[in-house]
Amino acid sequence: MMNEKMENSVRDAAIIASAQKIEHYEISGYGTARAYAMQLGLSEVEDLLTATLNEEYEADDSLTALAFFDVNLPSRIWRSA
Ligand SMILES: [Fe+2]
Repeated sequence: MMNEKMENSVRDAAIIASAQKIEHYEISGYGTARAYAMQLGLSEVEDLLTATLNEEYEADDSLTALAFFDVNLPSRIWRSA
């Protein structure tokens, strides 16, 4: 992606999308680990994973806001969607 020719705003949107993929992967992993902790009665671990999971959700929300409100994609991209 980094070697592709594209407008800066399109590149920004692509970078944000890639970062969100990572966040979603992390949310999946931490969510699963938290479920295991719950099943095993490991409440301290569960609490730590809940805190981490919430941080990941916040990061995802921040990236969504960044993509929607701070990246000015060329209007032709929106028209083609
Ligand atoms: Fe993260």
